[in-house]
Amino acid sequence: MDKELLKAAADKFGTPIYVYDLLKVFSQIERVRSVFEGVDHSIAFAMKANFNLDILRALNNMDLMIDCVSFGEYLQARKAGFSPSKAIINGNCKKQSDLKQYVCDGVFAINLDSYEELLRLEKIADRTVRVCIRVNPDVDARTDPHIATGLREHQFGVDYETATRMIERIRKNKLVELIGLHCHIGSQIVEIEPYQEALLSLRDFIDKTGLDIQVLNLGGGWGIDYGDGRSLDLEEYKQKIVPTLKDLSAKIIVELGRFIVGAAGYLVTKVEYVKKTRKKIFVIVDTGMTHLIRPALYDAKHRIIPLYDTSDRERNIVDVVGPACESSDVIRKAIEMPIPKEGDLLAIGETGAYGYSMASDYNLIPKPLEIIWDGQEFFRSS
Ligand SMILES: Cc1ncc(COP(=O)(O)O)c(C=O)c1O
Repeated sequence: MDKELLKAAADKFGTPIYVYDLLKVFSQIERVRSVFEGVDHSIAFAMKANFNLDILRALNNMDLMIDCVSFGEYLQARKAGFSPSKAIINGNCKKQSDLKQYVCDGVFAINLDSYEELLRLEKIADRTVRVCIRVNPDVDARTDPHIATGLREHQFGVDYETATRMIERIRKNKLVELIGLHCHIGSQIVEIEPYQEALLSLRDFIDKTGLDIQVLNLGGGWGIDYGDGRSLDLEEYKQKIVPTLKDLSAKIIVELGRFIVGAAGYLVTKVEYVKKTRKKIFVIVDTGMTHLIRPALYDAKHRIIPLYDTSDRERNIVDVVGPACESSDVIRKAIEMPIPKEGDLLAIGETGAYGYSMASDYNLIPKPLEIIWDGQEFFRSS
């Protein structure tokens, strides 16, 4: 997004603010659609990445499905206008009361995360409910260990032996209808091989069990460029993954979060102090881990974009830190940049996913406003 636009948003609404570029969201969706050209597919938005109501409404208007990992997310999706028939229910801890509501509303599918969950669902199902089994293919997603989910050591999904027992059990149940399989191996995946491995392993299982699937949900995880030039190569995906999908006569679902909204978001912040100590220069800004926890939690590195005139500024190595009373409140450590002055603005790039949705009230630092750019004007999101 243009720097002048980001500055204009900060002038109008103050700082810190999240600014979301809807046009970028739309263009990312078009990129996904073009990957699956010729394949019966649906895109679900993984709303854990961003639950902003205006964004959700826009995605509903674009006919996306919605992936919810909690009852709270499901209610927010309903509020944004998503019909239950477009909702996919994920998560490893679905409460009994939540399951009852999903069954009653007739959601598209509940992705069963365990044998135990199937037993719970059987007890409460008083009408037909569609399910997929989330399998854990024991594949290394080669991403940050904090956001990998597809290894046996992770708490998500079931191994193939358990999946087989679940299939047998579901076959005997008249109300639980197995429509397919689900698999999500991790997030911010930038290599194609983990997807290939997972897909081959799923296909083997389908062949061995003779399972007739209507749906194959491949989860999300497509990695985006956070400034290091590494992202999932969509052309490679099209060449190496899509042909196998075409051979399966099933509807393919992808549940993407980061890929759809990540690069559409900027966290615009103001420099409050430039504190020079004998050891370091600290750029203290009015946003930090309570608004964007990824650097503190995962050591994630986001681009820092100066929105001030840098031509006359000395460059030096600095730590950009936030206002929380916590030494891990660091946005970026040891980064070389043109030294800002008090009042200068910075934009933190690629913060549309897992930014605001992971924000907290820690230290009672107020949360930032969320501002939408629709290509014509900015508006404050509700
Ligand atoms: C079950 C499930 N589906 C989809 C996603 C979306 O992942 P991403 O935002 O990396 O596309 C996640 C995120 O971890 C997830 O847990």
